[in-house]
Amino acid sequence: MSDEPARKGLFISFEGIDGSGKSTQARLLAEQLRAEGHEVVLTREPGGSPGAEEIRALVLQGDPDRWSAKTEILLFTAARRDHLERTIQPALEAGKIVICDRFADSTRMYQGLSRGDLREVVDQLHSLMIGVEPDLTLLIDMEPGQGLSRALSRQTVEDRFEEFGEDLQVAMRQGFLDLAEEFPDRFVVVDGGREIAAVATDVQHIVQGKLATTA
Ligand code: ADP
Ligand code: TYD
Repeated sequence: MSDEPARKGLFISFEGIDGSGKSTQARLLAEQLRAEGHEVVLTREPGGSPGAEEIRALVLQGDPDRWSAKTEILLFTAARRDHLERTIQPALEAGKIVICDRFADSTRMYQGLSRGDLREVVDQLHSLMIGVEPDLTLLIDMEPGQGLSRALSRQTVEDRFEEFGEDLQVAMRQGFLDLAEEFPDRFVVVDGGREIAAVATDVQHIVQGKLATTA
């Protein structure tokens, strides 16, 4: 889509396998940047706007076979379009920093890779309906067994994808690392297998570097 208005803010996404620490790091980064006086919108996908949160419940709850992979691509993209129009674009136009826990790279991986090779379909729909990439994508990389046990220790009904198990996590981890090589201009890989504070320090340095070059 070519209706993206001129951006003034900074768009940061966190990506990685389930349980890698994205939500934790996104929250800590938001707190740090706010303490420094930045205006920050902390948001997530699927979700981040009222309509997209309704779609979130449809895609994350229930039987793992509830939707086909292609239907899922449409649902995640519909949620993203609403999130972009109502939350992300207005914040960027107002000059804010948007921190998004997952964005289109998650669709490239989970729907594009997990049930057959649908990456081309994901990319086509993305360019037709979204057409926006983050300025900076922080890939929180970690060993899949560790991520899965962290993710499964959470009590949640949002488990359609977590039920797919460790094989999928292994493929996802490698897929995310491959994506980082595909888009080297915006991806930075962070070792998530360390203490929360150590990961957060790396994240802060990377974001400060990005802010310094875009100021
Ligand atoms: P994600 O958003 O990637 O699924 P979360 O941030 O929700 O991951 O973290 C999953 C679980 O692991 C949470 O219980 C969180 O407190 C814990 N956690 C996050 N980062 C770390 C870390 N570096 N070391 C140990 N536990 C962590
Ligand atoms: P999330 O709440 O970030 O889960 P977690 O904290 O466990 O990482 O995302 C929920 C699930 O949605 C996650 O398993 C990945 C999946 N997902 C997709 O399959 N496609 C997408 O486009 C997005 C944004 C998420």
